[in-house]
Amino acid sequence: MILAFIGPPGSGKGTQAVLIADKMGLSHLSTGEVLRTKATSGTPDGDILQKTMASGKLVSSDLVNDLVLNALQSSKKGCILDGYPRNLDQVKFLSKHCAEEISSIYFNLPRDIIVKRITGRFSCAQCGKIYNSYFYKTKIDGECDACRSSNFIFRKDDSEKAIVERLEAYDAETKPVIDHYRQLGLLKTINANAPLSEITEELYKLLKK
Ligand code: AP5
Repeated sequence: MILAFIGPPGSGKGTQAVLIADKMGLSHLSTGEVLRTKATSGTPDGDILQKTMASGKLVSSDLVNDLVLNALQSSKKGCILDGYPRNLDQVKFLSKHCAEEISSIYFNLPRDIIVKRITGRFSCAQCGKIYNSYFYKTKIDGECDACRSSNFIFRKDDSEKAIVERLEAYDAETKPVIDHYRQLGLLKTINANAPLSEITEELYKLLKK
């Protein structure tokens, strides 16, 4: 089973991918997360990557495609691709290298909510759990629910300026991906503007069909 979680920035792809991967025993590749780690390597390539990502632009498809190929080769039961494919070149690459049928899930969320989801996001520096200062706070102020760390981080590309660029990249490059899978009948849409646990339930039911 290869699942592609596609949707605008901040629509909850990463949050749900972690929960669904755990529930269904699938592996999970967040291209954004792997790229963020690479960007902090301190190498010249890492520095270029950091600048591109902080600006909100997409990085080169060649780099991302390699990550996906590795994930497909090492996944046993199936894999959630979180944030991939993001343009039509990546769609082509995926269909060429993936023997199984791809199910794509589109996270549909209105623009005004997207901005709050992004500007309110922070995550645990130790275990990576994602929170939101508007919608999804830690149970105890300043302490991670999962690992109790008190170190939290904010993403560089969650700035107001980068958000504009990320939404432009989404409109120009990723919307055609959604149209493509819809035309092939391979797209399922979920309402991403709902409580977190309801979305997990809806996704689970959809994927079990
Ligand atoms: P990436 O990390 O993939 O960022 P993104 O697609 O912009 O998506 P986000 O991570 O912002 O949001 P999300 O949908 O995962 O939402 P989340 O669960 O965090 O990519 C970053 C960069 O890497 C790109 O800009 C690009 O440069 C590069 N890149 C990555 N993949 C690439 C590719 N394929 N090709 C080229 N370049 C690539 O949730 C957001 C917030 O909302 C959180 O605070 C969360 O707590 C909260 N929240 C989640 N669900 C709910 C809910 N139901 N109710 C209330 N709050 C909620």
